[in-house]
Parts: sequence; C-alpha cells; structure tokens
Amino acid sequence: MSFDLQLQGLRALVTGGTKGVGFAVVQRLHEAGAQVMATARSAPSTPTEGVSFVAADLATAAGAADVAQAVLERWGGVDILVNVVGGSSAPGGGFAALDDAQWYRELNQNLMPAVRLDRALLPAMLARGSGVIIHVSSIQRLLPLPESTTAYAAAKAALSTYSKALSKEVTPRGVRVLRVSPGWIETDAAIALAERVATQAGTDYEGGKQIIMRSLGGIPLGRPAKPQEVADLITFLVSPRAGSISGSEHVIDGGTIPTV
Ligand SMILES: NC(=O)c1ccc[n+]([C@@H]2O[C@H](COP(=O)([O-])OP(=O)(O)OC[C@H]3O[C@@H](n4cnc5c(N)ncnc54)[C@H](OP(=O)(O)O)[C@@H]3O)[C@@H](O)[C@H]2O)c1
Repeated sequence: MSFDLQLQGLRALVTGGTKGVGFAVVQRLHEAGAQVMATARSAPSTPTEGVSFVAADLATAAGAADVAQAVLERWGGVDILVNVVGGSSAPGGGFAALDDAQWYRELNQNLMPAVRLDRALLPAMLARGSGVIIHVSSIQRLLPLPESTTAYAAAKAALSTYSKALSKEVTPRGVRVLRVSPGWIETDAAIALAERVATQAGTDYEGGKQIIMRSLGGIPLGRPAKPQEVADLITFLVSPRAGSISGSEHVIDGGTIPTV
C-alpha cells in the first residue's frame, strides 16, 4: 500500500529555505509534488529546478513585506507556511553580555519573521478556511543554556507561546498551527562547529560531537538529528495526512529533554 502525503500541487512557502533544515524541507516538499517558494537573504548556491526563490532579510519588517507581496502576487496565497528562519548570533558571557541591541536582534531573528509573515498570509488562508502553519522553535525554550543562548531561548519561548495562541484563534476556522522543536541538528553549520571544537580539543570529528553533546546534557540517542529527519517530520505535519493535528509541539531531539 502506498503512503501518499497528498501534497501534490499545494503552495508552500519555506523561510530559511537555502540551508540546514529549511533547505531539506524545500527538497522534501518539492519531491512530494508541492509548489515551493524558498526565501533567504542570499540565493542558494545550487538552485533546485522548479523551486522559486525570493531574496529578503526577514529580520526586517520590509523584508517580510517583500516576501508576502511576492507570494500574494504569484499565487494569491499559500496552503502551507513553514517558518524555519531563526538562529543566534549572541555572544557568550551570560546576561551581562546581552545589551538591548542583542536582545532585539534575537527577537527579530526568531519571533518577528513568523509574526509578520503569518499576519500577512493568514487572511487568505482564513478566507479559504484551510491552511497549515509551522513554527520551528527549539528545545532551548525549555532548556536554555545561560552562557550564550538566554536571549535565543527566550525568543523561541515567545515564538512557542505565540504559536499556541494563534492555533487557538485560527484552528476553529480551518487553519492548523504547529510547533516543531528540534534539539541539536547536524547541519553544515553544526558540522563546522564540531570540527572547530575537535581541533581545539585535539580530537577527531566524532570527539568534537561528543563534547558538544555533553555540553547539552547528553543525547540519549547518541547523535544529533539529520536536517532531513526534521524535514520528514515537518513534511508529514503539513500534509493532509496530519489533518487532525493542531496546536501541538513536536519535539525531535533524540531524547535530550530529560523530563516527562
Ligand atoms: N541547528 C540546530 O541545531 C537547531 C536546533 C534547534 C532549533 N533550530 C532551529 O531550526 C531552524 C533552522 O536552523 P538551521 O540550523 O537549519 O539554520 P541554518 O543552517 O543556519 O540556515 C538558516 C537559513 O535561514 C536563512 N536566514 C538566516 N537569517 C536570515 C534573515 N535575517 N532573513 C532571511 N533569511 C535568513 C539562511 O540563509 P541566508 O544566510 O542566505 O539568509 C538559511 O537559509 C532555526 O529556527 C533554528 O533556530 C536549529
């Protein structure tokens, strides 16, 4: 028996769609037959045939408005909005290293892109009475690492709470809203970090990974998730197969969160 995800022809916008998790989501949705638009600041090094791309800085209101306009002009709306963009550039040093500019940077990178794009693209979903929105959060909303990710973790917590509120508001009107919270993911950036850690500690790549995993309190599975594994979860959640799932958080962390 085949397991068709029933994504053929659906219109999907994926933010942060050129690297890491976002790139993997773009590939999965495209393979599944969806029409896909990816966005990021720079075009992908190898464009995928059949996937459109819009360049914009989503940390700004103008960038979010440009992306929404491109989507509305091209398609009139989307069936699927995957808010992947996020990350942290905050320095180490705990609370004292975080001035107002750093705090706003983390909020503009992790909370406001989704708030602005949802606000622009939800009206067409509500008018149709269908759609699905994913917010990629992080287990750090529950497990903040105070040395360097206090502001990032707080921004992801805000994103998660916003996502839940939105799901309560719009699920009765046909739009599903979900959170996906990964633990450590072996993206290209993570590989580069593990290599740097390994060099500093005089060990190999696997040794570098072990050091990072220990700093997270350990990963019972013994390895980070692959971007494609996170993309598989998201691809299922946005599909009509997951039509009765809304308002929930889906953790993909190999068991990192130590509590129930
Ligand atoms: N990696 C992890 O271990 C991990 C763990 C938990 C949660 N997460 C979350 O998962 C999501 C994806 O993370 P990732 O590690 O896969 O990301 P990544 O590899 O760093 O890729 C980030 C993507 O977002 C784009 N981007 C970054 N800043 C942008 C901006 N201001 N405007 C528009 N696009 C921007 C990047 O392209 P440009 O640079 O060209 O703009 C790229 O396509 C994030 O929300 C992250 O917080 C990641």
